[in-house]
Amino acid sequence: MKIMAVIGSPRRGGNTEFLVERVAQGAASCTDIELDTLFVAEHNIGYCAGCLTCTFPPPGAKACPLPDDMPGILERMAACEAFIFGTPNHMRTVSAPLLTFFSRLLPLMEFIPDINAEGRITGGGFTSRLSGRRAAIVVSQGDPVFSSALVHAVLERNLIDLGMTRVGDVISRGNMGPQDVRAKADDLKEAFQLGVNLVTMTGMR
Ligand SMILES: Cc1cc2nc3c(=O)[nH]c(=O)nc-3n(C[C@H](O)[C@H](O)[C@H](O)COP(=O)(O)O)c2cc1C
Repeated sequence: MKIMAVIGSPRRGGNTEFLVERVAQGAASCTDIELDTLFVAEHNIGYCAGCLTCTFPPPGAKACPLPDDMPGILERMAACEAFIFGTPNHMRTVSAPLLTFFSRLLPLMEFIPDINAEGRITGGGFTSRLSGRRAAIVVSQGDPVFSSALVHAVLERNLIDLGMTRVGDVISRGNMGPQDVRAKADDLKEAFQLGVNLVTMTGMR
C-alpha cells in the first residue's frame, strides 16, 4: 500500500514526526507499505491567491497559476491510497504551513454544476481525486489538559470535503519539548493502532 505521511510541523525530529512514524509502523505491521513522506514546511508552497481558476477554469487556463512545488505534490498525492496528516497545535489551529498546503488542494476537486433549462447554475457539488482514500489524523499539543478541538475540526472537515475516508485520530497532549511524546507509551500505542486501522478499517466518510 502506498501511504503519504504529511507532516505539518516545521520542527524536524519533533513530536508530530515521531507520532506519524509510529502510525506508519502500525500500517507496516499489517502489509507492505511504500511511505512517501512530505515535510510541508520544507517545500516551496505559495499562499493561495484566491483566483479560483483551479475550481472554475476559463477555457485553456492552467489549473493553478502559482509557480511552485504544488503540481508535483498533487501528483504524488494522487498516487497514494492512504494518508497520515500530522500537525502540531499552533495558536489553537493547524500549523501555518499545513493550512497553506490545504488551501492549495482545491485543484484536486472539480465543481460539477447543476444547470437549469435557461443555462443558469442552480447548485452543484464537488468531486475529488482523493475520494475514498483513507486518512488518519495526528495532532500534538503543548497544553497538558485542554484538547485541540479546533485543530482536529479543521483537519476533519477538510478531509470530509475531499471525500476521504477517515479511520481515526491521535491527539497527544503535554508535548512542549521536541521529544516529549517519546515518553507517552499510551499515545504511541494508540498511534500504532491507528496505523493498523489505516490499513484494515473501512472507516467513516
Ligand atoms: C507558535 C506556536 C504556537 C503554539 N500554540 C499552542 C496552542 O495554542 N495550544 C497548545 O496546546 N500548544 C501550542 N503550542 C505547542 C505545540 O503544539 C507543541 O509543542 C507540539 O507538541 C509541537 O509539535 P512538534 O514537536 O511536532 O513541532 C504552540 C507552539 C508554537 C511553536
